[in-house]
Amino acid sequence: MKNTDSISHVTGKSIYLDDIPVQKGTLHSAVFGSPVAHGKITKLDISKAEAVEGVVKVITYKDITGENQIGGIVEDEPLFAEDEVHFHGMPIALVVAKNETIARKAVGLISAEIKEHEVIIDPREAKEKGHLLIPPRTFKMGDVTQAWEKCEYIFEGTVESGGQEHLYIETQGAYAVPMENGCIKIYSSTQGPTAVQKTVAKVLGVAMHKIEVDVNRLGGGFGGKEDQASAYASMAALAVKVLGKPVKLCLHRHDDIRMTGKRHPYSSDFKIGLSKDLKILAYQTTLYQNGGAATDLSPAIMERTLFHSTNCYFVPNTEVTVFSCKTNLPPNTAFRGFGAPQGAFVIESAISKAALELNVPKKVIQQKNFLNENDEFQYGQIATGVNIGKCLSTLYQKYPIEKLEKEVEEFNSKNHTIKKGFSLMPICFGISFTKTPMNQARALVHIYQDGSIGISTGAIEMGQGVNTKMIQVAARIFSVNTSRIKVESTNTTRVANTSPTAASSGADLNGNATRIACEALLERLKKTASEMLKCSINDITIKDEAVYNKNVKTDIKWAQLVDKAFLDRVCLTENGHYATPIIHFDKTKEKGHPFAYHVYGIAATVVTLDCIRGIYEFDKVLIVHDFGNSINPTIDLGQIEGALIQGIGWMTMEEIAFAKDGRLLSNSLSTYKVPDIYSVPKVVDCTFLEAEGPELAVMRSKAVGEPPFLYGMGAFFAIQNAILAFNPKYKPDFDAPFTPEKVLLRLYS
Ligand code: MTE
Ligand code: HPA
Ligand code: MOS
Repeated sequence: MKNTDSISHVTGKSIYLDDIPVQKGTLHSAVFGSPVAHGKITKLDISKAEAVEGVVKVITYKDITGENQIGGIVEDEPLFAEDEVHFHGMPIALVVAKNETIARKAVGLISAEIKEHEVIIDPREAKEKGHLLIPPRTFKMGDVTQAWEKCEYIFEGTVESGGQEHLYIETQGAYAVPMENGCIKIYSSTQGPTAVQKTVAKVLGVAMHKIEVDVNRLGGGFGGKEDQASAYASMAALAVKVLGKPVKLCLHRHDDIRMTGKRHPYSSDFKIGLSKDLKILAYQTTLYQNGGAATDLSPAIMERTLFHSTNCYFVPNTEVTVFSCKTNLPPNTAFRGFGAPQGAFVIESAISKAALELNVPKKVIQQKNFLNENDEFQYGQIATGVNIGKCLSTLYQKYPIEKLEKEVEEFNSKNHTIKKGFSLMPICFGISFTKTPMNQARALVHIYQDGSIGISTGAIEMGQGVNTKMIQVAARIFSVNTSRIKVESTNTTRVANTSPTAASSGADLNGNATRIACEALLERLKKTASEMLKCSINDITIKDEAVYNKNVKTDIKWAQLVDKAFLDRVCLTENGHYATPIIHFDKTKEKGHPFAYHVYGIAATVVTLDCIRGIYEFDKVLIVHDFGNSINPTIDLGQIEGALIQGIGWMTMEEIAFAKDGRLLSNSLSTYKVPDIYSVPKVVDCTFLEAEGPELAVMRSKAVGEPPFLYGMGAFFAIQNAILAFNPKYKPDFDAPFTPEKVLLRLYS
């Protein structure tokens, strides 16, 4: 099935937040953010801004009717700064005006006198000074201290990975409209409508039922709108509460980049020990997560880093600790992979270091240590359905990998100023929210009298195709044409208490809830059919919109059956509830079975490096990915390609630069480079692994959103190998992103 949005997207008819027609009398707003990264506000002068013709009001924390608190996990983040600011761009006030231009102009007239404090942007420095957002956590298995003695080889090193700007095409925003009796309806560009509802209710000091949140679709989220959309929805809603008029707030790109959090940069130390036959016996690492100025989702991201710190390898003795460090950067947040890429990059770096020092191909160490069926992860889960070995063998079957490697060697022996590099990047990603209670969802399914169907779930469509998958689930259960089915907007009054659409679990959770609702409705319809045909319900099936009795086609068609059921007063609405079975986790022991299943895959990357300039191009990325029984190969392939390129961007060109005073330097697309059509690999090919999907994946179609982001790491190691081919004196280090500047320095180091 084609993506349901493809026609409206390419004809420009898809409706995003900014396309919603505004009501008469709607006011527009703009945020005044802190001009310094850390300090005490001694004076805030809003008088000039309020005097501007067309400005209705400048709202500050003093106007908040509930709590000035938006922290979801830890209550440490005010909506508007009171007397202290903790990051550059931290919201201080909201100007509400007749139109956006006036609001923006007035923002420029606000002045704040701020006594500046010391600014910390480095996580290790923050840790040294005792600035932690939450206590550190450690995952352990076996005993590393004893294991070191048994190791033939031990290597140590440090690893840096940088932040990343989400760069969703649609910036953060919300449109809030007053309803009767103090209720407010909010259109929000959010991955988490319930998070918005809950946060707004708290800030306004009203019950959640007074707040309705509606989301049609997002122009991308990538994790950036899992938590951080709530702030902007709260501002718009607060303005509605104060002024009684509809209020819209859409961030300009420049403000969005400056004010919102990004992927967490990590700085890490590792120690890896191997036996003589290259088995990894012990692995110890300490990671310093740069959390920014407030906790946001950092504890959950820290947790996923811990879970993925050994990637797809079995290591009998591990000890991994993460410190979540408080710095004066915008609070960092969810970003595709959610801490897993940062954790996996460290062990991949450690293995690279071991391979280079021992002068053995990295792939030899990788393969020797792949997880096997029934191996234990360091968090206690027993690995089942392990497909990493099969992915590797399929890669060698489907693609001439050995020939490719030989060609790289030959090319390098013949060329001096241009070198090629090759890498293998295997991945393993756990599917489920790491916080078990979040793994639940509901779906409200209506069958209308004419046989058409409407589905509401908690899933947010953000380009990943979840709505299309919901339609496919219902179409399969009912065996009707997909054109009969519509997915409604995501709305908190139709589906309540939702988890954000995140953790790649949107399709699994909401799809299973949809399946359960549809199955219940199907039973009712079958009963009606059996009454019509005077036969046993067990003999009834529905296939391609027709009713079958003992596999013999009858004259009864879908629409007719629905009509009869309605006349018989059968309930044609069902609310399906799904909670992932099996999963559990005990935080006091740091052991359990947190994931429904794991996704595996492997990528081979070839890069060509211009050794005069330090610039590079990717010739090829060849992937074997474990989709299970993909419900929609076209959409899933799109996810592989998008995530791969996004991962390559993180590892190569996307460099977030802050000045020492905490000001974002890379604050526009001229200074922050993301992959464009010229920088994507010349060839990207993906083979679907032949493997039956797990029962807990929706229709056995595995979650696909985040795992392939990790393939991008192959780019880093391919570049590193190309540098080594040119400069054998280069002492490999692990400092991503590998920008052309950094590459050039290493070519001649
Ligand atoms: N794909 C598109 N086009 N746009 C997005 O914002 N977000 C990613 C991924 N793929 C995203 C995307 C992230 S971070 C997640 S967690 C998943 O989609 C969420 O959707 P799913 O759970 O339905 O896979
Ligand atoms: N992944 C993504 N988002 C989340 C998670 C997770 O595991 N937990 C809470 N939010
Ligand atoms: Mo995705 S980072 O879990 O929104």
